[in-house]
Amino acid sequence: MTVHDPLLGRVLKDQYRLDAVLGRGAMGIVYRGTQLDLGKPIAVKVLLQSSYADPDARARFRREATLASKLNHPGIGQVFDFGLEGETPFLVMEYVEGKELSEVLAEEGALAPSRALVIMRQLASVLQEAQRNQLVHRDLKPSNIRLMRYTRTGPIFLKVLDFGIAKQVGGTDGKLTATGAIIGTPLYMSPEQAGLDVKQIDCRADQYAAGVIFFELLTGHPPFMAESMHALLMHHVSRPPPPLPSHLPKALRDVVMRMLAKQPDQRFADPGALDEALARCEEVCAGLPALGSGGGAAADSSGSLVKILGALGLSLLLGTALLMAFRAQRSTASPATDSTLTTQSRPPVTLPKGSSSPTDAAAVAPPAAPTTAPSTPAPPTRQRPVPVKPRKPPPAAATSPKPPAASPPPSGPKPPNRALDKDHELYQVPVLH
Ligand SMILES: Nc1ncnc2c1ncn2[C@@H]1O[C@H](COP(=O)(O)OP(=O)(O)O)[C@@H](O)[C@H]1O
Ligand SMILES: [Mg+2]
Repeated sequence: MTVHDPLLGRVLKDQYRLDAVLGRGAMGIVYRGTQLDLGKPIAVKVLLQSSYADPDARARFRREATLASKLNHPGIGQVFDFGLEGETPFLVMEYVEGKELSEVLAEEGALAPSRALVIMRQLASVLQEAQRNQLVHRDLKPSNIRLMRYTRTGPIFLKVLDFGIAKQVGGTDGKLTATGAIIGTPLYMSPEQAGLDVKQIDCRADQYAAGVIFFELLTGHPPFMAESMHALLMHHVSRPPPPLPSHLPKALRDVVMRMLAKQPDQRFADPGALDEALARCEEVCAGLPALGSGGGAAADSSGSLVKILGALGLSLLLGTALLMAFRAQRSTASPATDSTLTTQSRPPVTLPKGSSSPTDAAAVAPPAAPTTAPSTPAPPTRQRPVPVKPRKPPPAAATSPKPPAASPPPSGPKPPNRALDKDHELYQVPVLH
């Protein structure tokens, strides 16, 4: 269906034609377009005029766009140009094909830790480039990350979009919040953004958002959900994140929890340090074959159990056959020893000495992931969370302090309210006192 839009077909700055609407976000409308002199596809974000009504805001837009255009990294959707159409600012960006990470999460639920780590390391590399340029994204979320040529088991290449609303670290444009607006998306918002502690906002705020995304990649749901935006923001400020499933390596769980620390100085000092920690996690996961294979987290553990049981069954079968052959022939051929058989048929998991039954094997297999119940297939849609795998809201931590004047914590597996559920929206809301 063609969306009627007065800007469709218009040519901005004599060279950027707007061909189709790609989508609408809280900051404006994004068009697919063509750079006429090169015949090159582009994306043009026409920003909401109301956000840039005063000359100060337009000057800020110029500054931010100029800074964003300086980012040069394969994992960042590039900003080519910007301008004003009348009083309406627009950004001309690289047209990034692919699939939003939010769609991948909606379709697949939790990813294998090895795949989540690939995504996180690329994200850490992007954050290093932002830090080099003293830029903070401030709205990192799965719908601002696109995966190119994505398949469930193939290689992953991501690009982060929307560095356009980034602010210069240490700059004077704390006005964005000083004028009474929260910038960011509540599900992924750092405590310092949620608590309007402008001075604290630096690259570690992006690290926190990346931590929320990491948590979601590993479990299929973000760490905090709530019935109201206020409650959600308060969770970020004061509620400890729920623990990650215990079948995940401790090193991995520790990294996520450090990224989600409430105090910026308790997180990794910079994206470089984060990347080093992620690299160590990759080594740990590489040593655990069951965690390194494709598929979701549940598939990881149940897959390894099947392998172990299969291998033991095979050993048992071969052993019985040999015993029968031995009994039949009695004296002549010397049978292969039990130990040889066990070695040949052993799965790549070390079993304790004397393990000979499926029960023993189960005792050393990783525990099944918590989300293995059969689920109703959900239609592919951008609206999340969609329970492709049943996604329970994270359990309320027993020790969590009560958020001030917030609504009660979510009790039971209620879906979050739709406004928050549409977690890819950017909210600009009045300051909460
Ligand atoms: N550079 C781009 N290339 C391709 N698609 C884009 C680009 N920028 C934004 N989009 C798409 O346009 C839609 C609206 O984007 P946006 O306004 O940034 O929404 P949000 O505020 O949720 O980030 C989204 O579906 C997004 O994936
Ligand atoms: Mg976006």
